[in-house]
Amino acid sequence: MKTPEVLISEEEIQTRVGELARQISADYGDDSDLVMVGVLKGSFIFLADLSRRMEIPRTIEFIAVSSYENGSVSSGAVRLVMDVRGNIEGKHVLIVEDIVDTGHTLKYLIGMMKTHRAKSVKTAALIRKAEAAEVEVTIDYLGFDIGNEWVVGYGLDYAEQNRTLPYIGVIKPTDV
Ligand code: IMP
Repeated sequence: MKTPEVLISEEEIQTRVGELARQISADYGDDSDLVMVGVLKGSFIFLADLSRRMEIPRTIEFIAVSSYENGSVSSGAVRLVMDVRGNIEGKHVLIVEDIVDTGHTLKYLIGMMKTHRAKSVKTAALIRKAEAAEVEVTIDYLGFDIGNEWVVGYGLDYAEQNRTLPYIGVIKPTDV
């Protein structure tokens, strides 16, 4: 596979993640019982950077879902692969997602957190593909809007490759 072309540089990502961390810290404040729920696998790097730059008490949980079968075509159906381990009832939940494409995954997860009786549910996503939206879903903390292209790096993959690139790169059909 060719080296993906840079779409969002490491520096741009780090600057934006810092801004989001400050905004989230200010909005929740010191007394909120905040649980950050990272969506595996793609959000692991975003969650690590975002949570380490926040200045308020927070705990970390993970959830895993699947909606693509080793490729780039959305099936629309979301499957729960692993639920959160801790009890989130009565807590403020911030879902941390890598990328929102059709919106099905995030919508499913918001419903899931409400089923777990979270006190509030908000969402953070590093990237949104605005044109690809099929369902309406609110992203409270958004990093970047991009077009309808497949991106990798900073946690995101194409068939499990390129997750650890420090930047967001674009994969072209001719690259794979
Ligand atoms: P949605 O349910 O269509 O919004 O898809 C969300 C999930 O699809 C994300 O959590 C990613 O795992 C995956 N995904 C969508 N677009 C991309 C992309 O461009 N690169 C890598 N993963 C993507």
